[in-house]
Amino acid sequence: MENVYGNPHSQNVSSKLTHDTVEQVRYRILAHFHTSPEDYTVIFTAGSTAALKLVAEAFPWVSPGPESSGSRFCYLTDSHTSVVGMRKVTATMNVTSIPIRPEDMWSAEKQDAAAAGNPDCQPPHLFCYPAQSNFSGTRYPLSWIEEVKSGQVHPMSVPGKWFVLLDAAAYVGTSPLDLSVHQADFVPISFYKIFGFPTGLGALLVNNRSAPLLRKTYFGGGTAAAYLAGDDFYIPRESVAERFEDGTISFLDIVALKHGFDALERLTGGMENVRQHTFTLARYTYAALSALRYPNGAPVVRIYRDSEFSSPEVQGPVISFNVLDDHGRIVGYSQVDKMASLYNIHVRTGCFCNTGACQRHLGISDEMVKKHLQAGHVCGDDVDLIDGQPTGSVRISFGYMSTLEDAQAFLRFIIAIRLCPPHGQPLPLATPREAGAPPTGSEAQDAVPATVATHSPSPQEDAPPGTGVWNNSPTTVDAVGLCPPLPEATGTQQTPSEKAAGVPDGDLGSRVITNLYVYPIKSCAAFEVTRWPLGNQGLLYDRSWMVVNHNGICLSQKQEPRLCLIQPFIDLQRRIMVVQAQGMEPIEVPLEENSERAQICQSKVCADRVNTYDCGEKISSWLSKFFGRPCHLIKQSSDFQRSARRKHGKDQPACTTATLSLVNKAQYLLINRSSVLELQRQLNTRCSV
Ligand SMILES: Cc1ncc(COP(=O)(O)O)c(C=O)c1O
Repeated sequence: MENVYGNPHSQNVSSKLTHDTVEQVRYRILAHFHTSPEDYTVIFTAGSTAALKLVAEAFPWVSPGPESSGSRFCYLTDSHTSVVGMRKVTATMNVTSIPIRPEDMWSAEKQDAAAAGNPDCQPPHLFCYPAQSNFSGTRYPLSWIEEVKSGQVHPMSVPGKWFVLLDAAAYVGTSPLDLSVHQADFVPISFYKIFGFPTGLGALLVNNRSAPLLRKTYFGGGTAAAYLAGDDFYIPRESVAERFEDGTISFLDIVALKHGFDALERLTGGMENVRQHTFTLARYTYAALSALRYPNGAPVVRIYRDSEFSSPEVQGPVISFNVLDDHGRIVGYSQVDKMASLYNIHVRTGCFCNTGACQRHLGISDEMVKKHLQAGHVCGDDVDLIDGQPTGSVRISFGYMSTLEDAQAFLRFIIAIRLCPPHGQPLPLATPREAGAPPTGSEAQDAVPATVATHSPSPQEDAPPGTGVWNNSPTTVDAVGLCPPLPEATGTQQTPSEKAAGVPDGDLGSRVITNLYVYPIKSCAAFEVTRWPLGNQGLLYDRSWMVVNHNGICLSQKQEPRLCLIQPFIDLQRRIMVVQAQGMEPIEVPLEENSERAQICQSKVCADRVNTYDCGEKISSWLSKFFGRPCHLIKQSSDFQRSARRKHGKDQPACTTATLSLVNKAQYLLINRSSVLELQRQLNTRCSV
């Protein structure tokens, strides 16, 4: 067998194969970054965060004392949480942490290298900055590396030797990085950010000149040349990589890296092509997006940026923005996110683990961050607006596999949710050319009054030839054509059942329940009843069951719209649920579990853990056949109690907590007929959703 990989800490044939292959992969990684083992060492870690933590713990910090004011840890405020968190480690050594604003670095005066003093004097200081902001995509100058190391630019004025950590995690997925030119001391990376796999594997690339300074504290398996169990004796291995890779490295994933790099090269022709392709898509989208205007001239989005997307030197393929209404008020990111899911567009929302950039771009003060926490908002949740002010933004990113169709689908989505007016007349947009497309013969007729004049070349103009990635580039950006077609008008007249129910036009009169529906299986069709018993969780058997995939994850109509074609019906007398769907034989499921045979499983509904039981193989096969993938039907256990969540907030009245079935939030859903009619009216007068 030539591909059995054994634990590399041994000497047998399969271990040797692993060791040699891993060494080869280290070499491949360094070649990708235009360097070699002579200049850099690859230390495998669990990701960029683990690499940053390693530097925080191993950097030769000097605590302040009688002879020295000690080391400084400086970091750009536009840094990922994983960089900012390093200050917790430095604090244990009384090393001062100093946040540096991008503005201060941009405007820092350069000293003459000769006048910069001796850059090799003590103590050592560390300056960390991202090559690319994971909030806005801003790319910071790689020249800072040399300028800071040589003493030409000081993040702060203090005697000592500066080391530079370049956080390349967000940058290297869409840009080459030449470490033979930009010789940062430490470079953390995560591989899944480059080619999507493997997750949980990253590396710290360490400049060999700085590597010997790193101090080892903890020691784990594989890192020791020798040690005594009964005495404080530990000699680390000679090789820097082996010294810092505690435990067994993730060797199968590391072996897979080679295929990742090969595939990337084969598909794209190299990182320079990826850089051009992704930047071109971003610039096109930026130009089109920033040109969108409401009829009153108000912009449709606010984009958080430091440049006009003028070149990939200063901007990565990322657009961070908030959607506005026609009065300039921000539409919360959660709303945008939910709408985007309906269009099968997956956006990132919030502050993206970069509070510093979020504060700077959105104008959120430190006090406001603390107030937001008190109001119940935590990083990564869906509390998007507090007192009308945004707590974060929406981010889209392009990767090597993104296409112009993707960019246009996104633009179509924004136009559809904000700009498509009654009767399908497009609202004023930039002309195709202003939105970034090359001129066409018919442009004069297509053009509608533009309110923003920006020009950037089209993807076609910029597309590098011959790599195959760009075959899907379009000919023009037709801003008018981005508006989806209107749905067939269906009218808003009363339906026969409304008439039968005696619903008056306009005035709904007193509140009457006109229709009663039970949804036994979450997300599947309802069945209508005229009377129905109530249980302690609402309507009896309402959303007591749900369909889950082979991992026990609940299916929703967002991923599986055909759920609505499953029609359950409950026969209370026969104590069964009959499940039907077109083209399938009806199937019966008992209403209650057979407590002896029931297989208890855990699942999740809206972040709540629920105890359920599997309804068995027969219904599982039936559902799997219908959906064409493995599925199960599960039912909430009768002895399991799930309580409704109470919202945070001091003004909430105290109330008894309701118990819930597998519903998202509440026992009952009341739908007001006038709301439905209004929704129907809007659907008929707007573009299709
Ligand atoms: C700039 C930057 N640094 C560090 C990280 C942390 O990377 P990981 O989560 O892979 O450890 C990220 C992740 O998004 C990032 O964008």
